[in-house]
Amino acid sequence: MEKIKLYEDPLFENFTGDAIRPGGFEITRTAVDFCRFDQDAFLLDIGCGKGATVEYIEKEYRYHCTGIDLSEILIKEGLKRNYSLNLHAGKAEALPFNDETMDGILTECSFSLMEDKKVVLNEIKRVLKPNGKFIISDMYLRNNKPRHFSQGIMIETCILNAFIVEELKNFLSENGFKVLRFIDYTYRLQELMASIIMEYGSMDYFWERVANKPVDCEKISYAMKDIKLGYFLCIAEMEKRE
Ligand SMILES: C[S@@+](CC[C@H](N)C(=O)[O-])C[C@H]1O[C@@H](n2cnc3c(N)ncnc32)[C@H](O)[C@@H]1O
Repeated sequence: MEKIKLYEDPLFENFTGDAIRPGGFEITRTAVDFCRFDQDAFLLDIGCGKGATVEYIEKEYRYHCTGIDLSEILIKEGLKRNYSLNLHAGKAEALPFNDETMDGILTECSFSLMEDKKVVLNEIKRVLKPNGKFIISDMYLRNNKPRHFSQGIMIETCILNAFIVEELKNFLSENGFKVLRFIDYTYRLQELMASIIMEYGSMDYFWERVANKPVDCEKISYAMKDIKLGYFLCIAEMEKRE
């Protein structure tokens, strides 16, 4: 059965705006400021959605920024909002860019959704310049319990694919990246969820509106309580190629 894609649902956009993730541009700004890219830097946003970050980086930093996303719907919406943006439909597993062309790559609430992370990370490594930066903001499980609750919940969100931080850090270091910064932004996720609850009275009503049918809200609530969902920013640097 095809999963409902929460990030394509206009209902969700009521709470996040064009940046379809917790924390909006505050987290992006922290990451980009930290990286101190050169003035003519080239950045790539993978899983860029409607290109909100691409637009933000071009406007605020004047870097060259390109976005790529699997969802043609979201790319079209982004181009409708601003036709001058450099947005393309495409997948992280086969990036249409030459080797060593990017100073930095961002994945904001999207890396968790990518099925074969090893293939994606190899692509990221190929496209990054030596010492290029990889910026990830995403969901994580604060109690480190393995995820075991996805069966039967047919809504695709980063929540169902949240990372275990140690696993992610090991995965990055085993693949030639050094983690430079890790910052917890769970309060930004809590703010987003609180605004949904303020609007709908509970998360249950929100899930049902998104799914457009009754869903097992008890199961979702139980799972959410159990996993202690968090949100993070991680900035890693690709170690120099030998
Ligand atoms: C939660 S949305 C975040 C969108 C955007 N980063 C933002 O913050 O506004 C996740 C995005 O990742 C995209 N995505 C998921 N898997 C992908 C893949 N393998 N390649 C490219 N994009 C992907 C989805 O289509 C979706 O637009």
